[in-house]
Amino acid sequence: MSLPPGPRMPRALQALGWARRSLPWLERCRARYGDAFTLRIRHWGDWVVLADEADVKAVFTAGDKVGVALANPLLGPVLGPRSVMLSEEPEHMRRRRVVLPAFHGAAIANDAETIGEVTRREIAAWPAGEPFALWPRMQRITLEVVMRAVFGPRAGDPRLDPLRTRLTELTDYLNQPRNLAALTIFGPEWVRRSRGYRRAMGPVEDEALAEVRRRRTEPIPDKPDIVSMLIAARREDGTPLGEGELRDELLTLLTDGPTSTSLAWTFERLLHNPETLARARREIDEDLGDAYLDAVVKETLRMRPPVPVVVRRLREPLRLAGRDLPTGTVVAPCIHLLHRDPRHYPEPLRFRPERFLEQPAGTYTWIPFGGGVRRCLAASYAELEMKRVLREVLSAVDLRPVDGRAERVRKASISFSPGEKGLVMVG
Ligand code: HEM
Repeated sequence: MSLPPGPRMPRALQALGWARRSLPWLERCRARYGDAFTLRIRHWGDWVVLADEADVKAVFTAGDKVGVALANPLLGPVLGPRSVMLSEEPEHMRRRRVVLPAFHGAAIANDAETIGEVTRREIAAWPAGEPFALWPRMQRITLEVVMRAVFGPRAGDPRLDPLRTRLTELTDYLNQPRNLAALTIFGPEWVRRSRGYRRAMGPVEDEALAEVRRRRTEPIPDKPDIVSMLIAARREDGTPLGEGELRDELLTLLTDGPTSTSLAWTFERLLHNPETLARARREIDEDLGDAYLDAVVKETLRMRPPVPVVVRRLREPLRLAGRDLPTGTVVAPCIHLLHRDPRHYPEPLRFRPERFLEQPAGTYTWIPFGGGVRRCLAASYAELEMKRVLREVLSAVDLRPVDGRAERVRKASISFSPGEKGLVMVG
């Protein structure tokens, strides 16, 4: 039961390829080996990368035959071992059900006004007539939005301010390029034991735990927020979640990076494609609904997905890419390659939101949120958040790019962000 072919160079060199040039490297491998190939990356392990729709569908519909694997070894300790993202079935499903209601239907509609208010407050602080980077501003918005979803009205309690600061410091730390270099050369264990990592991680854990302890002694509020849902949740045997489990769930939700990165990319894409920007503005000015904004968000997530692969470990043998792959194999449905495949997206390198007006996004060909039972549980929420922020910004200020050239993709240790962090000017 051999794995599909792939680059034969030493693991250390493959690690360098992955760290420095992941996206072009994935493209080269597909050109050479086809829609399924094996990467052997030092410190990351062996991955069978899948870029064929049928294989991706087979993984996403395999239920509990596929289980947890981590695409980024740095994230493990941040999320914590008891996080929903790292738990196996059936515990995984139980955990999902606890927080899912907070990201669905009526809850999303309720939060739309909060998102608008947070965005307007942020815009008011933007400088006029001088360049500034949008990505950190978007990080501030998305952090505030998620704080309010998780803590409800309690988000305004000054005792939570240190948590905000520490979370921002942790995100900055995780995204430092030198961490990626250290990860490649010395491995995740070394990085996790390093002073910098502990210094960034420790205070976040302390603050999250302090809040969990405070909240466990208080009555459940009338309008439950995510913390109170987690505190009220019961395991199958009727016992409540322990402090450690609560900490892991909180940090899993609070360390969301993809929304701010995707927002920065959305503005970068729009500002470098003036016709799409004009059409988006027209939709807002003439109150024409949000079909085009929706397509803009979908097209940005297609062209610039913040995460290029999702990964799973086979819990049973599975037939993929014409081979029987053994239990334990790590398979990686490749978002980046599927989204650039001209068989699914003609002229894949063109930013053309219209394609999503002509044809709905395919379940297994548009997968920025992954898929199957582990699909991002906040996918609808994140799309709504992006549309609302876009609407507020485009109707309040006239943004323009500082440089006429599109920004290149910069790989930090967690996300794939705009190289200049979305450099813009107002006016
Ligand atoms: C544009 C924004 C976002 C993108 C592109 C994104 C992307 C992803 C991806 C690719 C996965 C892995 C899915 C898989 O393995 O199949 C995931 C999982 C997850 N995401 Fe998101 N995400 C976004 C926003 C958010 C937000 C705002 C939250 C919550 C505040 C969130 C919470 C989660 C959680 C809890 C999981 C784990 C789900 C599970 O294992 O059952 N995400 N996300």
